[in-house]
Amino acid sequence: MNHAMVVVSGTKIADEIGTSRSEVWRLVQQLRTLGVEVAGHPATGYRLKAVPDLLLPDMLTPLLKSTIFSQNIHHYYKIGSTNSEAMEAAGAGAPDGSVFLAEQQTVGRGRGAHPWHSAHAAGIYCSVLLRPPLPPSEALILSLAAGLAVHAAVQEIDSRIAPDLKWPNDVLLDGKKFCGILVEMNAEVTRVRYIVVGIGINANQSSFPAELQPTATSLRLATGSEWSRVELCAALLKSLDREYRNLLEKPGAHESILRRFAERSSSVRGRQVRVEENGSFEGVTEGLDPRGFLQVRTAQGVRTVLSGTVRLR
Ligand code: BTN
Repeated sequence: MNHAMVVVSGTKIADEIGTSRSEVWRLVQQLRTLGVEVAGHPATGYRLKAVPDLLLPDMLTPLLKSTIFSQNIHHYYKIGSTNSEAMEAAGAGAPDGSVFLAEQQTVGRGRGAHPWHSAHAAGIYCSVLLRPPLPPSEALILSLAAGLAVHAAVQEIDSRIAPDLKWPNDVLLDGKKFCGILVEMNAEVTRVRYIVVGIGINANQSSFPAELQPTATSLRLATGSEWSRVELCAALLKSLDREYRNLLEKPGAHESILRRFAERSSSVRGRQVRVEENGSFEGVTEGLDPRGFLQVRTAQGVRTVLSGTVRLR
């Protein structure tokens, strides 16, 4: 990583990974199809034309020192869903803080069984596995904290933009969604066994399928410039690490999450919404209750939104 763009002979690479020069050539060709720009051929040796913006453990680990996420980073060029992978690994005993990252998902999943558009190398598709000593009722707070972590990571990289949080955990720019969060868990009634926080960020998409165009955006579309996914992903995991540790260790962290979420959301209070939950109802948002659920004032009184989709009017 320190000399990523020097020329390395095919023989040296072959020796280092214990294979033949022809196999190195085949692997280099495969890397090229995956978008890694490699100059050269077997006779001259190989050289990276640029350090690729791939979410590789070797790139991220040095940036995540002293966080719970530095030890077990798993990277996939193509996978069904990082959340499914993380849930399966959790069931098989993977440790707290394991991270699952993909360049592309073939069946990325959103809340309420919606698909999550996961184009190759354009977004961040990230799931982290946590084993918090918390009751299941605290899972919602953790999910709100993940939205705050995305907000902080984006602002750390470009302080000029101000993302808007939409309950429970969409993150918007210019009224369009660039990030969604899917939190899944396995729990006893009083104790969480494990939680998977799945975060999808549209980073460098330059367009979306027609059906998503009215509601989706990317950081690149919103800011006009390309984002380093490695830098953003590292900022995100560092910020998630801070939120998670505070929640477990600091008195008052729960209340702080509720307060900061409300401060960074234009819709959590005083906004006309339609809620789709067991049918649908309309009303005006009235903040979060102490557990983090959205309160909506309707003609019949205040209702608490537990899991529905909230549409802004
Ligand atoms: C939503 O807004 O509906 C949530 C979208 C969550 C998408 C992410 S991408 C990484 C992780 N893997 C998945 O299959 N889903 C989450």
